[in-house]
Amino acid sequence: MSDRFTVLVTGGAGYIGSHAVLALHDAGWPVAVIDNLVTGFRWAVPDDVPFYEGNIADAALIAKIVTEQNIGAVMHFAGSVVVPESVENPLKYYDNNSARSRSLIEAVIANKVPHFIFSSTAATYGIPEVSPVREDTPQVPINPYGMSKLMTEHMLRDVSAAHDMNFCALRYFNVAGADPQARSGQSTIGATHLLKVAVEAALGKRDSVAIFGTDYDTADGTGVRDYIHVSDLAAAHVLALDALIADPTQSHFLNCGYGRGFSVLEVLDAVDRVTNLKINRKMEGRRAGDPDSLISDNGAIMDRFPWKPQYADLDQIVTHALAWERKLGDIQQEQSA
Ligand code: UFG
Repeated sequence: MSDRFTVLVTGGAGYIGSHAVLALHDAGWPVAVIDNLVTGFRWAVPDDVPFYEGNIADAALIAKIVTEQNIGAVMHFAGSVVVPESVENPLKYYDNNSARSRSLIEAVIANKVPHFIFSSTAATYGIPEVSPVREDTPQVPINPYGMSKLMTEHMLRDVSAAHDMNFCALRYFNVAGADPQARSGQSTIGATHLLKVAVEAALGKRDSVAIFGTDYDTADGTGVRDYIHVSDLAAAHVLALDALIADPTQSHFLNCGYGRGFSVLEVLDAVDRVTNLKINRKMEGRRAGDPDSLISDNGAIMDRFPWKPQYADLDQIVTHALAWERKLGDIQQEQSA
């Protein structure tokens, strides 16, 4: 581990990026972070990690970081992630997620960084015709968010064919939970994700949780998703880096999920079980653009990487999310004091 280069994590002050920083750090990798702090938090980055506040499309800044920190790989998380917002303001998504990724990739090539790991999404599949979803399932995004990420996948494919850079695009299913040691977690203000909303309700930060649709083609009528613990996802990124280094001729598109699903009711039941409380549930109509069921086929990542998920148990995901939500209340008080 002595002559290791440094990994640059873009969006390292955000939810998934901050967990990747912890996973890299825990695995002995030197790490540096760039984040514009629009949605991320400076306190989410450990004090001993070099931090650059700025824009990933700033070529001069990327060149400076690569030189100063001896960057040998980029893990790219920075971007916008709210699906309904992408429908209302598509150009924001094509700028933050596609155009700025293009500039970042250009800087990566110009500065001869050989490895790139990209935060992609199951939203690139749209409403898939098959479940579980394989990597070769047609990608037909149904919103600008998914399209903006798919464009970056295409750029990476083309750029890696033309230049000395290999990449891994990881397509995340539903990311949930928090660092088991509560060093980080989902801190987004006004988050809309089911488990985040549910733990907020359990802690009295909201009155109720809306159930968006009870007439889906699923066992209990509510939407089914493949919830993946954020720390297992972060671990997959470290393994992706190992794989890119081990074989620079190979690039990868890989689903990241556990290959099993839980319904909205099952998630809410798990929160009730773990807290020994009963969250107030409100049945509502379907939310636009929600598929019945979205479950990954994770055979490819299991074959290629020695990935051993540690936290697939739903109650454990809930337990970690709750522990973080409690701690977040204290951090927010400290920050506003
Ligand atoms: N849901 C509710 N009530 C809520 C929130 C969600 O019933 O308050 C339901 C949704 O209808 C869906 C399920 O819970 O059936 C999960 O919804 P989330 O909003 O938590 O997540 P999504 O599946 O909509 O979206 C996630 C990511 C996106 C990504 C998408 C595609 O948040 O970034 O997966 O995989 F694009």
